[in-house]
Amino acid sequence: MGERKQVEISAEELEKQEYYIREVRRINDEQREKARCAPKYIILTYGCQMNEHDSEKMNFMLSQMGYIPSDNIREADIVIFNTCAVRENAELKVYGKLGHMKTIKKIKPDVKVMVCGCMMQQQHIIDEIQKSHRHVDAVFGTHNYHKLPEFVYESYSAKGTIIDVWNIDGQVVEGLRSIRKFDTKAYVNITYGCNNFCTYCIVPYTRGRERSRKPHDIIAEIRALAKDGVKEVTLLGQNVNSYGKTLDEEYTFSRLIRDINEIEGLERIRFMTSHPKDLSDELIYAMRDCDKVCNYLHLPIQSGSSRVLKKMNRHYTKEQYLTLVEKIRREIPDISFTTDIIVGFPGEMEEDFQDTLDVVRQVRYDSAFTFIYSKRNGTPAAEMSEQVDEKIKHERLERLIALVNDIGAQINETYRDKTVQILVEGPSKTDKTRLMGRTPQSKLVNFDGSDELVGKLVSVRINDPKRCSLNGIVI
Ligand code: SAH
Ligand code: SF4
Ligand code: F3S
Repeated sequence: MGERKQVEISAEELEKQEYYIREVRRINDEQREKARCAPKYIILTYGCQMNEHDSEKMNFMLSQMGYIPSDNIREADIVIFNTCAVRENAELKVYGKLGHMKTIKKIKPDVKVMVCGCMMQQQHIIDEIQKSHRHVDAVFGTHNYHKLPEFVYESYSAKGTIIDVWNIDGQVVEGLRSIRKFDTKAYVNITYGCNNFCTYCIVPYTRGRERSRKPHDIIAEIRALAKDGVKEVTLLGQNVNSYGKTLDEEYTFSRLIRDINEIEGLERIRFMTSHPKDLSDELIYAMRDCDKVCNYLHLPIQSGSSRVLKKMNRHYTKEQYLTLVEKIRREIPDISFTTDIIVGFPGEMEEDFQDTLDVVRQVRYDSAFTFIYSKRNGTPAAEMSEQVDEKIKHERLERLIALVNDIGAQINETYRDKTVQILVEGPSKTDKTRLMGRTPQSKLVNFDGSDELVGKLVSVRINDPKRCSLNGIVI
């Protein structure tokens, strides 16, 4: 599977995209003359950074077509749901919102409703939309969202829902630009798709087989971002550690890190997600040696029980994971770890769960994303017997969260009176008169300061650590 060669479909598809952008822009400019205001759009994004970044690229296309952003679903002329299929509750939220759009569309029949992203890569979801959500104007998937301008154009004349979901998965689309949420930091895709087939996970089915972008394309993109004032990049892939495997040349993730570290103007490098089974010694040394790489690692464990990990098809044991963490800490002593944990995987017993708690105690994660196992149609785990009782799953989740929070708060307390380096991102979410930024370890810090600090690296002394964030004073 990993052997399959990837193809690029840049020039031809992008030419088509530009044509439709121009056509929609023409229509929108005419409308604007009449209505004296520009049409508005909103994208509601669910799921992971992949989806967030795809939405940033759609933001760019929409602005080129003459739309302006809105944060109000009722006033938007085009509403796009970029969906996630990883757990059932993510899917239920989208169905809820689509129901709401039916009501809005009764009052505002011209509003365009489009649904894309991971959910749409599953036939039973498309069937459901065709059956129960006929007010949707277009459905497209994770491999062809670059065709959004065409869907917008076609939706003016189409009768019924436009459905265009690609199931090919050997493709990389280059040359899509994005409008980012922050000026100072940016996401950069390095791999698409996943070949790991963890038995609980839908992602390999919704995002297709793993493929890597060429190093030259990635480096050129980051150089351009750095020139544009971006100080921090987060390299994105479902498993960044296997970067390069589908390329014609010999080129690894650790080499990519070393090459990106040389880019002038760039201050920080982050990446996610790292699969423990593919984290090489070379990567640890590259992280240690490269001054721009943040001392932070998101290293999903999923379960602390070797027995459960085997059933999950994760290819490491509890002991191997702990040894890896130890090795990384030896080379990079002030590194911090975060993780993903699933409770209630089929067959998980109390003693398996105790192993998970044990790993949390030993590693002492700064924080963890904790999930209740959710059965996904078409994945091997959905067919496993011994599905865990809902009540037990919830009770385990609560115990896990209590432990994670307790350790997180203890770690935050150790920051009291310490000076940390912050990349200032913008106004604080909780109090707009203050600023916020993150430490290399990705800790959120709030502090007083003037707007000129945005985009700069500043030293902040922590005087008031809280459970989920830190407060400090610029020094
Ligand atoms: N590629 C990344 C993340 C994939 S999805 C990785 O391998 O770490 C993000 C997280 O969702 C996973 O790490 C996992 O913890 C969780 N997840 C995936 N499928 C799930 C399921 N069926 N039920 C509950 N959580 C799930
Ligand atoms: Fe899903 Fe596993 Fe791939 Fe992550 S590595 S996306 S959890 S299959
Ligand atoms: Fe969800 Fe798709 Fe990401 S399923 S977690 S949005 S890759």
